Formats: sequence, structure tokens, C-alpha cells
Amino acid sequence: MVAVIYFSRRGKNKQDGRCQYINVGNTEVVAQKIGLTLNVKPIEIKPLQAYPVDYFETKARSHEEYLNGTQVPIAPVDFDITDNLIILGFPNWWGTMPQAVKTFLTKYDLGGKKIYPFVTHEGSQFGKSLDDLKQLTPDSLIMKGLPVRGTRAYKSESSIKNWLENMNLN
Ligand SMILES: Cc1cc2nc3c(=O)[nH]c(=O)nc-3n(C[C@H](O)[C@H](O)[C@H](O)COP(=O)(O)O)c2cc1C
Repeated sequence: MVAVIYFSRRGKNKQDGRCQYINVGNTEVVAQKIGLTLNVKPIEIKPLQAYPVDYFETKARSHEEYLNGTQVPIAPVDFDITDNLIILGFPNWWGTMPQAVKTFLTKYDLGGKKIYPFVTHEGSQFGKSLDDLKQLTPDSLIMKGLPVRGTRAYKSESSIKNWLENMNLN
């Protein structure tokens, strides 16, 4: 009934102002914790062309995609289309969701479903991603979201628990 779907990137990232290598992306860390709580295996949105490990190369590519509104090709997202509760996670990139997440929302019809968004970020929380989400899924019900600071992803259990409880998802 509930699907946990997320985009995340491992590799070099700016964390607390320093470039560091992380081998599990922050959003994936949160997605796994949500999955463990709900006993659901999270499903990843994967761009066909993976993002570089290098932080600056990723910034350059994703900025161009953002500016051009590129529909980044993604691999099929293997979730049960009859699931009517969708927990959707992504990092804040350029003040909104990565273009690959927009591709997912364009390709898969989530009309009539409840979407519970969560974001990881380095200060701008959801940015304008919720407006973009509403625009891309006009027939879905967007529920209250959970913002998590990327560097706090490992310590996000209690905020996840409160959020899921408040949403009656636990
Ligand atoms: C290309 C890029 C753009 C980003 N843009 C923003 C931004 O606009 N606002 C913000 O708060 N954080 C921004 N961040 C920081 C990420 O949102 C944050 O590190 C997030 O936790 C990364 O999640 P991930 O490890 O799952 O990819 C950006 C990071 C990258 C790599």
C-alpha cells in the first residue's frame, strides 16, 4: 500500500561546508530508515547516466539540466502502481528537486494518490520543490513534508518517527 521512492547521489558532496566523500547518499539514508520503520523496501529513481562522483562536475551537469529543463532519462521505477500512498524523497538541488525526479513524476501517473514528500538539504529545506511537485502532480494530494538537513540524515530517526506518526503512516 505504501511505496517509498527516492533519488539520491553518493560520491563527493559538500557537507557542513567541506567536500567529503559519502558512499550512501543522505536521501538514501533517510529513505532506508523510513523503509525500516514501515517494513517497505525503498525504490530508487536512477538516471540512466549516473552523476559523477566529483561534486563540481555534478554541480555543472545538474545546473545545466536545471536551466534547460532537461528531462533526464531514468531507468524504469519498479513500484506497484496500485500503491496509493507514495513517500517521495529527493535532495534539494538548485532550490528544487533534481530533474530526474521531475522525469519520474512526468512518466508515472500518481493521480488520485497521496504523496508524502521528504527532502534533504543544506539549508534551503524544500525550496520551491513543493510548488513544482504540485504543478507536476495536479491530481495528487500532497501531504505535509519532512525536511532533513543532509548532514543530520544519520540522526533523523526521531523526526521520521514523529512525521510518520503525525501522518498516521506508522
Ligand atoms: C548539485 C547540487 C545542488 C544543491 N543545491 C542545493 C540547494 O539549492 N539548497 C540546499 O539547501 N542544498 C543544496 N544542495 C545540498 C544537498 O541538497 C544536500 O547535500 C543533500 O542532502 C544531498 O542529498 P543526497 O546525498 O541524497 O544526494 C545541493 C547539492 C548538490 C550536489
